[in-house]
Amino acid sequence: MPFQAALQNARDYVEITLMHKLIGLSGPLPEAMLYATKGGKGLRGFLVLESARIHGIYGSAAGPAAAAIEALHAYSLIHDDLPCMDDDDLRRGQPTVHRKWDEATAVLAGDALQALAFELVSMTDCPYEQRWLLTSTLATAAGARGMVGGQVADIAAETAATALNLDQIIALQVGKTGALITWSAMAGPRMAGAETHAMQSYGDCLGLAFQIADDILDVTGDVEKAGKRLQKDAAAGKATFVSLLGLDAARARAKSLVEQACDHIAPYGASAQNLIDCARFTIARES
Ligand code: IPE
Ligand code: IPE
Ligand code: MG
Ligand code: MG
Ligand code: MG
Repeated sequence: MPFQAALQNARDYVEITLMHKLIGLSGPLPEAMLYATKGGKGLRGFLVLESARIHGIYGSAAGPAAAAIEALHAYSLIHDDLPCMDDDDLRRGQPTVHRKWDEATAVLAGDALQALAFELVSMTDCPYEQRWLLTSTLATAAGARGMVGGQVADIAAETAATALNLDQIIALQVGKTGALITWSAMAGPRMAGAETHAMQSYGDCLGLAFQIADDILDVTGDVEKAGKRLQKDAAAGKATFVSLLGLDAARARAKSLVEQACDHIAPYGASAQNLIDCARFTIARES
């Protein structure tokens, strides 16, 4: 299955799994939860399914882990958009959850999506030890040493007396964006009980390239295509890869990281073609 079809397939899988988990619930909470999980690229869920596939683990077994990471990512976006954080009205071309409903619903839908993510990952169809490792590493990637820690550093950077330097920006992104992307890339070998090193290096390079692309999009992107407010970073006085390196050097850095990502998975041969296409897509995307 070519990359774009595999990406669509991953999105469908995640959507069905999440709908299934919310059957029987009604009202704003499940509606907001489902709303927040739709309309994204679905890259993290794809990385879970694809990294599993190249380790001989197919769809239905890895499906709960793919849905888990997309639920966790959706929660991070709902909270990221809140007035106390980035205060955004638009996400994936639609009103943000707190604009469509209200702030309390947005906070609680995020909370419930995070809880659902751990319920789902603990249902992944693999031996107990592997499932335990998937679950505990997801907690680390999501928390103070991962995504939440990165978000805290990102918010602090907005009001810092001196702008962050490149090493500090890289450290920030390793948590904010990198942790969930690397977890997704490592999910397949972890499920299989296989060596994780190549996929970890691929994920680390991809995560960094992904955030550089996000920063470039913030400056050069089209709001219609991106589906979110842009030009926010400079307005907030935030140091980003673009403000520190300039556009051309940021693009060159992202491209070189994609090449490094692809080199790391060369040992998988032709079976890793979709992961190579995914890495290229990460920096060519318009949303
Ligand atoms: C956006 O992530 C937030 C960042 C981590 C920079 P994505 O660009 O993957 O968002 P969706 O899921 O496709 O909307
Ligand atoms: C959001 O980063 C990262 C997480 C939600 C963990 P940004 O604030 O840069 O993402 P966008 O630009 O709003 O999508
Ligand atoms: Mg933010
Ligand atoms: Mg934001
Ligand atoms: Mg951004």
